[in-house]
Amino acid sequence: MEIEKLSERYVAYTYKRQPLVLVKGEGMFLWDSKGKRYLDFTGGIAVCSLGHCHSTLTKAICTQAKKLMHVSNLYYIQPQAELAALLTRVTPRSIEKFFFCNSGAEAIESAFKLAVKHARRQRIITMEGSFHGRTAAAVGATWKFSYRKPFEAIIPKIFDFVPFNNLAAVERAIGDQTAAVVVEPIQGEGGVNVPSDDYLPGLRKLCDEYGIVLICDEVQTGMGRTGKWFACQHWGVEPDEITMAKALGGGFPVGCLGAKSNVMNSFSPGDHASTFGGNPLACAAAKAVVQTMQKRKLPQRSAKIGEYFKKRLEELANKHLCVREVRGLGLLLGMELATKEAAEAATEAARKKGYLINCTAEKVLRFVPPLTVERKYIDELIEALDKILVEIRQ
Ligand SMILES: Cc1ncc(COP(=O)(O)O)c(C=O)c1O
Repeated sequence: MEIEKLSERYVAYTYKRQPLVLVKGEGMFLWDSKGKRYLDFTGGIAVCSLGHCHSTLTKAICTQAKKLMHVSNLYYIQPQAELAALLTRVTPRSIEKFFFCNSGAEAIESAFKLAVKHARRQRIITMEGSFHGRTAAAVGATWKFSYRKPFEAIIPKIFDFVPFNNLAAVERAIGDQTAAVVVEPIQGEGGVNVPSDDYLPGLRKLCDEYGIVLICDEVQTGMGRTGKWFACQHWGVEPDEITMAKALGGGFPVGCLGAKSNVMNSFSPGDHASTFGGNPLACAAAKAVVQTMQKRKLPQRSAKIGEYFKKRLEELANKHLCVREVRGLGLLLGMELATKEAAEAATEAARKKGYLINCTAEKVLRFVPPLTVERKYIDELIEALDKILVEIRQ
């Protein structure tokens, strides 16, 4: 049976899939089962930051797989301890200890558990337009109502939503049971929304004043994506907790919660666990990712080439009426089109021409390529989009 039919027959229908089967990757390129080559500006949605099948990452995984793949967290794990020590060199200075898990949602669940235990309070302030994942508490903190509604019975009723980029609304929402504020420094799924410069520092100040835990969800923005190792560093903000996943394993599933020592020390044995979290294989992969990013200075590279990419997108915005706005930092860029239909048509047309891009928040084309993307590929995409934006208007 061909793969699409096999998938439809046996795999849960939770994703609307595009009609292609990707079978091979190398750097910026992906190939489908028919041998067609694509330039990948989606990068597994901000995951494959070193590009596909980077040789250092592949080698680290293979070497570790031959040595020791998994042992329980009942024992000390060498690559886990080494990864934690390495992460202190790239995360904001406040972040001193780490809990390892397997995904972004799991990192967020861990962050919420830690915050309520540490603060000994029950409620969490979260933002309109946010996305934090699909497990019960993570989806509870996620703005889109259609993601939450069918599952209300199992979602904790502890979240207070406030508009993004509005400090006064946060202050009004703070009550005597507020344990934490959770925020994406730049909203990803919500449409690549960058807050004003006083927002993150203002949140930090409010949290300090009221003794509230500040959680930065950097699952999408972290690991150099926006031009700094972590997006909160653009504003010099040091959170109490930070979540990572996506690019941390470069394609290998790894999630992580980092926290200040005194906050993380509120967890004691038995409070939280994950069988696979931080296993030798995952940590060997993440170590290789961080070391390669350090060696190649990928966060700095992302800032520089992201600026170029944004400038080229702005040229399109100036030329095509159907483009409403270009937003983002580093290599987390969004181009908002006038309508959902235009964004869908552009995504499809790009795919047919051999460019994989993603559409989020209905009408925002999102570009999250590997941080190794070269100018010539950006130029190629811009040229293709220039034609596509004319075609979809007709
Ligand atoms: C900011 C943010 N938090 C959490 C998540 C959830 O991560 P995962 O899909 O690995 O559970 C995502 C996924 O897109 C995200 O963008």
